[in-house]
Amino acid sequence: MSAIPRNQWYVAAYGREISHELFSRTICDEPILFWRTEAGSVTATSDRCVHRRFPLSQAPSRLVGDQVVCGYHGFTYGADGKCVAVPGQTRVPRTARLTSYLVVEQDSFVWVWIGDPALADASRIPRVPYLDAAGWTTVSGREPLAARFSLLVDNLLDLSHETYLHGGYIGTPEVASTPITTEVDDEAGVIYVSRHMDDAECPPFYSRSTGLQGRIARWQDIEYTPPCLYKLHSRIAPVGSVPNPDGTDPDAFHVEVVYAITPETENSTHDFWAVARDFALDDAEVSAFLAENNRTVVLQDVEALDVLEKIIATEPEGYQELSINIDTGGLAARRMLARMAGARDEATTR
Ligand code: FES
Ligand SMILES: [Fe+2]
Repeated sequence: MSAIPRNQWYVAAYGREISHELFSRTICDEPILFWRTEAGSVTATSDRCVHRRFPLSQAPSRLVGDQVVCGYHGFTYGADGKCVAVPGQTRVPRTARLTSYLVVEQDSFVWVWIGDPALADASRIPRVPYLDAAGWTTVSGREPLAARFSLLVDNLLDLSHETYLHGGYIGTPEVASTPITTEVDDEAGVIYVSRHMDDAECPPFYSRSTGLQGRIARWQDIEYTPPCLYKLHSRIAPVGSVPNPDGTDPDAFHVEVVYAITPETENSTHDFWAVARDFALDDAEVSAFLAENNRTVVLQDVEALDVLEKIIATEPEGYQELSINIDTGGLAARRMLARMAGARDEATTR
């Protein structure tokens, strides 16, 4: 059975990727056609013509005003997916309609609902306002991952791997040596994993972007809302500095790292990443440094997970793993995802 939860919202694209042009992306095994209408809203329908399945995103298919004309025999569709013209006859078959998808554009992302539209509730989409709010500067990107999305969830929920896989970039010895706390809010559907390092080496990622010298207080507070949205609230401050009781935190630098983890197929994933900061807002050099460095870190994960996917694919079902305390968040995520996908709960910790 599929491990991909349906009846869920997924990030399909950045808003900036979709213009008044045909754009195709496979989400949860469904080939979807996106484009922006002349009025500016994003539409999403199946990318397969109902006639003979020709992809509507592929030339010579084209957009004429707010209608899509299939490049094979000319079936023509409106923004809602309804067929409005067919060749050789005036009567358009009543059932000639592309599956259409609910779309919400919010916080710089285009979210799409995969599953039964009757179950969709847009108010449940997790928010990341800092990705396009005043007072923040964001760099972002997307990398293709040739691995199942659950491997990326595992990876992001256990950051102790930073010390080893990302040494010299974001990893320092304290990340792996500092214990975590994990909290699961089943009702809200959120998993929290925190690691507060009060006296840690400052990795180049933060020393170069903040200008802080010497040792730092480094807090990592993960908030994962399965299946798609992962936030890492990262606080970097001089050792000994803590936030004020009223929540203000003037001595600290705040970096909001966001991942949208969207299955492309059962064995491939769209790895959307964004890094928002509340300092050096207009400093193009800091932006370029963070963009390049974070992409490098993402690609280190991608390389490792692509290898893991190949290994897992060759092993028999039910291979043995050995989990320890650092895996608590990842195992909680697996349980939540398995419930969402309708599978049995088999994850355990030792
Ligand atoms: S396949 Fe699209 S019109 Fe025939
Ligand atoms: Fe990583």
